[in-house]
Amino acid sequence: MTEPAVRTASVSDAAQHTLLDVRGLEKSFVRSRNFFGRATAHHAAVRDVSFSLAKGETLALVGESGAGKSTVGRLVLRLIEPDAGSVVFDGTDVSTLDRRDLVRFRRRTQMIFQDPYGSLDPRIDVGTSVGEPLLIHDKLPRAERDRRAEELLDKVGLSRRTAAAHPSELSGGQLQRVAIARALALEPDLIVCDEPVAALDVSVRAQVLNLMTDLQEELGLSYLFISHDLALVEVIADRVAVMRQGEIVEIGPAEQLYSAPRHEYTRELLAAVPVPVPPSLRTGRVARA
Ligand SMILES: Nc1ncnc2c1ncn2[C@@H]1O[C@H](COP(=O)(O)OP(=O)(O)OP(=O)(O)O)[C@@H](O)[C@H]1O
Ligand SMILES: [Mg+2]
Repeated sequence: MTEPAVRTASVSDAAQHTLLDVRGLEKSFVRSRNFFGRATAHHAAVRDVSFSLAKGETLALVGESGAGKSTVGRLVLRLIEPDAGSVVFDGTDVSTLDRRDLVRFRRRTQMIFQDPYGSLDPRIDVGTSVGEPLLIHDKLPRAERDRRAEELLDKVGLSRRTAAAHPSELSGGQLQRVAIARALALEPDLIVCDEPVAALDVSVRAQVLNLMTDLQEELGLSYLFISHDLALVEVIADRVAVMRQGEIVEIGPAEQLYSAPRHEYTRELLAAVPVPVPPSLRTGRVARA
């Protein structure tokens, strides 16, 4: 295995509270089975992956299709079990959580997916979808849920009237805002965002990214931001981890990784970025579209 080019975190990073600490994660999937259903070949999707994430920080996980990014996201949220390694969330190894603590973990961690159409139930109105986690976890009465749903829609920049709409009546960008509102309902600490703007028109991407940054500042959220697009994450990531074939080949602060990439694969990915990000966007926010 090639040694990942690990950079030393700045003093301010080290002083921050670590929310998530991932050590030596491994995950293989069965690639083929014989006639009797016995596994005959395995594919190592995630190999010795380690990283940490501070409170209020965004770590981008970048790499080409099949690199293992989504698998890392699912392992972190304990949606699947690792073959080896540990996920420590706020000081506790998530593999040791009992049923009650797992429920607590589930409310503190959320996921946003690429496809906003697929993540919302088309048969129910948006307000009900946004308030649903409050029914499941807190058994809040209907009126209270509706009130909270409207507040959350307002928070993500949608009109309160959107609550009555059905997913088919909304645009992709509006739907992704709804998905974000729903993810915020339980006031999580960590959101795993799996290609959250990849399916959106380029013109609305910046708006949704800005919203995510604003919410992060306001609520102190940590993001594990998964993307195949190194240029896109430059404007939102504090640190970037580059994955290839299940491994993190380079991890470090965004400015350093873009200005002086250490690993050859990172350089290849940077060379493949079609249009350089204008310097005006590099350190600041995404331009409002
Ligand atoms: N449930 C599964 N069963 C079998 N193989 C899987 C499963 N999930 C992922 N894999 C395999 O593990 C590897 C990593 O997949 P993963 O979805 O994590 O990649 P990714 O980096 O998210 O890719 P993409 O950018 O296409 O979403 C791939 O080879 C994939 O085929
Ligand atoms: Mg994926």
